[in-house]
Amino acid sequence: MTSLDSNVARRRTFAIISHPDAGKTTLTEKLLLFGGAIQLAGAVKARGEQRRAHSDWMKVERERGISVASSVMTFDYQDHTFNLLDTPGHEDFSEDTYRVLTAVDSAVMVIDAAKGIEEQTRKLFEVCRLRDVPIMTFVNKMDREARDPFDILDEIEQSLALDVTPGSWPIGMGKNFLGVYDLFKDRLVLMERSKGEMPDEGESCSGLDDPKLDRMLPSWAVDKLREEVEMARGLCPEFDMEAYRAGTMTPVFFGSAVNNFGVREMLQALGEVAPPPRPQPTAGRTVAPDEDKVSGFVFKIQANMDPKHRDRIAFMRMCSGHFKRGMKLKHVRSGKQVNMHNPVMFLAQDRELAEEAFAGDIIGVPNHGNLRIGDALTEGEDLRFTGIPSFAPEMLQKVRPEDPLKAKHLGRALWQIAEEGAARVFKPRFGSDWIVGVVGSLQFDVLADRIRTEYDVPVRFEPTTLYTARWVSCEDAQAFKKFQDSYNQALAEDHDGDLVFLARNAWHLDRAGEDFPALKFHKTKEHA
Ligand code: G4P
Repeated sequence: MTSLDSNVARRRTFAIISHPDAGKTTLTEKLLLFGGAIQLAGAVKARGEQRRAHSDWMKVERERGISVASSVMTFDYQDHTFNLLDTPGHEDFSEDTYRVLTAVDSAVMVIDAAKGIEEQTRKLFEVCRLRDVPIMTFVNKMDREARDPFDILDEIEQSLALDVTPGSWPIGMGKNFLGVYDLFKDRLVLMERSKGEMPDEGESCSGLDDPKLDRMLPSWAVDKLREEVEMARGLCPEFDMEAYRAGTMTPVFFGSAVNNFGVREMLQALGEVAPPPRPQPTAGRTVAPDEDKVSGFVFKIQANMDPKHRDRIAFMRMCSGHFKRGMKLKHVRSGKQVNMHNPVMFLAQDRELAEEAFAGDIIGVPNHGNLRIGDALTEGEDLRFTGIPSFAPEMLQKVRPEDPLKAKHLGRALWQIAEEGAARVFKPRFGSDWIVGVVGSLQFDVLADRIRTEYDVPVRFEPTTLYTARWVSCEDAQAFKKFQDSYNQALAEDHDGDLVFLARNAWHLDRAGEDFPALKFHKTKEHA
């Protein structure tokens, strides 16, 4: 293997998808502990001033007010380099959360063992499904009263239409949670309730019939384990690498993140079976990760929080080649050269200048707003990466300037924000209001704040009765025109001039579909 091949082969770029409170932050922290990237549990949440002082990049961040903290976390474990991309949840839930999933090769789905699949997990899962992203499942909080493991497997299978196969099997739950049996490695791993410490590797067994198990577990537990695993093996298909990598089967691991339990088994499985950087589709051809020439695409822009600066960090997912600092890359959309003097790499809590990078890595490119989501950077070839869509917003509000004379300024601000990809902005064919769409409600507050501070236009967001937005297209020009005539009141244009249908409710959307069967309604839109 060449050095390029081996550097690509050892990379695992993934994200965690979950509903708030399922344990994503806790699991992240434990993964970083295994990777030796942090020494202290709690470091992901509590980033002390002291550590900040060590890092020049942090200083830059603080001075310019750009926060890229924990957007990407890179760590090594055994023979692999992991890039864990954060999927902002809670108040930061936004289109970015979805788009991060276009830059990963696999995902870990964390679910709360008492709650099962929750709304945000399902939404993020749907985005993974768009690209057939392979998914590994971690059923967390087994140290609490949890649902029956069969129930959980059944729910994943039924509600997400995925084949499930257990990678480990829990022994008891809640107060009686003793540990797991690792079905991939035939190992018994017992839990010690000592937070933050490393669990031991577990005891190797020659299978579930190994008499060792009878010595190590109470008899109720060992009988139950044998019985349940036998049943699970009867009910679930065996792990199938192809099916997992095609995104149709998920191996399921049970554990307790806060007790650092079951995490190692999953991390090892990620190293062993999760895919290395995948070939990336472009408009003309597929780019292989081991091609010599460097290429990558921007999937996220972090805007400056300091209104005095227009600096931004563009997050670029490397798709091929061996990147070296100081390279000049072609910004395909403008045709201009970009000097990569200060690309940033993310090492858990630190930022460093990225001296080199390979496919699967994420580098941060400081810029003044010229880089946009979906843009390609290459060593010369005019590539246009596909599969980095805009997502239809799930919440729509009207926006008005406090001062009616500032309507033009507001329009300009909104257009720029839309180009950056921070929100969807629609100009309805009727009326003078702008409609702004987001996927997380707090984004409205964030936007109002940005428009006021960056563009000096105080604005008001107001609720609408709109239910959802869909991009529309139609191959039959006549039907398309007829549709536009009949539904003119519900049509708007986005910042690229593409037609959008703003539905008042689910019925309205269904009705339009029934009236015009030739019409296509899209939940996502590829960047032009
Ligand atoms: P999130 O990022 O997905 O939102 O979840 P996070 O890790 O912050 O975890 C949410 C809460 O669940 C936290 O409790 C965390 O300690 C707890 N938790 C995570 N993993 C486990 C587990 O395996 N077992 C149990 N019993 N609890 C778990 P909190 O009280 O909200 O915060 P904290 O003060 O404990 O940090």
